[in-house]
Amino acid sequence: MFEKELEEKLKDHINYFPRKEQAILMCLHEIQNHYGYIPKESLKPLSDMLGLPLNHVEGVVAFYDMFDTESPARHRIRVCVSIVCHFMQKDKLISALKKKLGIEMGEVTEDGRFKLIPVQCIGGCSEAPLFMIDEDTYKFEGEEKLDEILAKYT
Ligand code: FES
Repeated sequence: MFEKELEEKLKDHINYFPRKEQAILMCLHEIQNHYGYIPKESLKPLSDMLGLPLNHVEGVVAFYDMFDTESPARHRIRVCVSIVCHFMQKDKLISALKKKLGIEMGEVTEDGRFKLIPVQCIGGCSEAPLFMIDEDTYKFEGEEKLDEILAKYT
């Protein structure tokens, strides 16, 4: 079972859609925002709420690299590694993040503050190279600016 507050939010998503299974992505985002990742134990109660088989929900979580079932970092930094960002110096962005955080892609900082995750196009190619911290999207504008951005997330 979910905590009351989270359960209410999930119900809101489910009621918003004509068919409750259509709310699956919204619900998974909500769970990830709540816990900082998607606990495996949350999938069964979610599948019950959505009226879907558990293996369907597990399959959706496994399909999307934006969902994280391990390493509960407080903030997830998702770096776009798709083609436009690639040609717009995403390597420079990744090097700066790795250097500042002292971790490789897929790892969590020792203090549990950040996890670095490579993702496919996040839909803002004209602003490339892009990255997201939790639900906020940023354009990489140099290391100094990056420090300012990271400092907002404690
Ligand atoms: S390729 Fe990076 S946002 Fe589209």
